[in-house]
Amino acid sequence: MGEDATVRPMSELSTARPTSYSRVSLGIMAHSSEANLLGNVHGGEIMKLADSTAGAVAHRHSGGPAVTAAMDEMTFLAPVHVGDIIKTYSQVNWAGRSSMEIGVRVEAQPWGNASDEPVHVASAYFVFVAIDEEGHPRPVPPLETETPGDVRRQREAEIRRAHRLARKTEIDRGREE
Ligand SMILES: CC(C)(COP(=O)(O)OP(=O)(O)OC[C@H]1O[C@@H](n2cnc3c(N)ncnc32)[C@H](O)[C@@H]1OP(=O)(O)O)[C@@H](O)C(=O)NCCC(=O)NCCS
Repeated sequence: MGEDATVRPMSELSTARPTSYSRVSLGIMAHSSEANLLGNVHGGEIMKLADSTAGAVAHRHSGGPAVTAAMDEMTFLAPVHVGDIIKTYSQVNWAGRSSMEIGVRVEAQPWGNASDEPVHVASAYFVFVAIDEEGHPRPVPPLETETPGDVRRQREAEIRRAHRLARKTEIDRGREE
């Protein structure tokens, strides 16, 4: 692993980290090489950008490497066109023992027209798990919410986690029968 894959000292990781500490925004220009057969940007490209942004957030919050464990919800709200400037906005919604839910909002704006308001084109929720040098889950710092919006995101993330775990338990039980 590279230098940025080292894990920060445990003493640092037991202190709660505010949502603003790890928030990340990325921006790219959509090129024709990313287009689908309809001429719009391929959904997979948006997913990759969202995953990359969420990965940076997870790494910052957890103070070391973290892997994508699940992406169980991504909504596409409007098409993204070649030539749009795509921007992602991402933060930790919830932190557990070793896992974190990271939310990503994706907006697009035509590159040549600053008077066009950015359009909310997609949203996604990722589960990242912080890992140690052996690839095993390791503890992450608690999350400190700072705004009413953070509190709402944390509450909604808890609902999604409860559903995720219930679904997994039910599926595993069915396979054991
Ligand atoms: C993610 C991974 C480290 C989890 O390892 P594991 O041994 O199953 O870990 P555990 O069962 O102890 O779970 C660890 C945490 O992850 C959560 N988790 C694991 N799988 C999950 C899933 N599918 N959905 C939601 N949460 C999940 C658990 O709830 C637990 O959370 P908590 O510690 O906050 O309570 C392991 O499955 C892995 O390495 N997967 C591959 C990840 C990867 O390579 N991603 C890139 C794709 S190319």
